[in-house]
Amino acid sequence: MLEVRDISHFYGKEKILDNISFKLPRGSFTILTGESGSGKTTLLSIVSTLLLQSEGTIIFHNTPKCSIDTMRNRHIGFIFQFHYLIEHLTVMENIKMVTKKSKREILKLLATLDIDTLAHRYPSQISGGQRQRVAIARAIVNEPKYLFADEPTGNLDSKNSKIIFDILRSIKATTLVVTHDSSLILEDDRILTMRDGQLIKG
Ligand SMILES: Nc1ncnc2c1ncn2[C@@H]1O[C@H](COP(=O)(O)OP(=O)(O)O)[C@@H](O)[C@H]1O
Ligand SMILES: [Mg+2]
Repeated sequence: MLEVRDISHFYGKEKILDNISFKLPRGSFTILTGESGSGKTTLLSIVSTLLLQSEGTIIFHNTPKCSIDTMRNRHIGFIFQFHYLIEHLTVMENIKMVTKKSKREILKLLATLDIDTLAHRYPSQISGGQRQRVAIARAIVNEPKYLFADEPTGNLDSKNSKIIFDILRSIKATTLVVTHDSSLILEDDRILTMRDGQLIKG
C-alpha cells in the first residue's frame, strides 16, 4: 500500500497543493484527474519521489527500507506524456539499457504489449501509440512495485489512448495515472479528482 498523508506544496509563497491525503491499495489502479492547473503533475511528482513536498509524508508500506534514490531506481516505474525513448537506439536496445534481463525475456514482455515484431526498429520507424507502448515496456521491465504515469496518452488518438489505458489497468504494480480526459475513465476505476490543489469527493 502507498499512503499519502497531509501533503501540501508551495511554489514560492503560492500554495499549490492543500493538505492532500489518500491511500492506494497494493496492486490497485487509480486515475488522478482534474482540470489543467489543478495540481495533478505536482502531486504525481511528489508521490513518485521526483519532487520533494513542502509538508506531509509519503509512506511506502511493505517495501524494504531503503533510501529514496534506491526506491526511485528499483521500485518505481515512470511514464510521461512524451516517451523519452533514445532515437538512435532500437526498441530492444532502449529497453536493454535499463535492465539485466535477457533479450528473450524482453521479447516476451514486448509480445504482451503486441510490439515484439518492432524490436529492431528505431523510435522514428514506429507509430506514436507503439512508441508509448515501448515506454511502458521500459517502465515495467524491472517489475516495479509502483507505476506512475503523467498524461501518458496526451499525444495519442482516442483508439490508441484506450489501448494504453487497458494495458495500464492490467499491470500488477500499484498504479497511479494522471489524465484530464474523462472519456478514458471506466465505471470500475478508482478515481481521485483535484480542484484548485485539493482533492474533491466523487
Ligand atoms: N515549477 C513551478 N513553479 C511555479 N509554479 C508552478 C510550477 N509548476 C506548476 N506550477 C503551478 O502550479 C499549479 C499546478 O500545476 P500542475 O501541477 O502542473 O497542474 P496540472 O498538472 O493539473 O495541470 C499551476 O498553477 C501551475 O502554474
Ligand atoms: Mg500536468
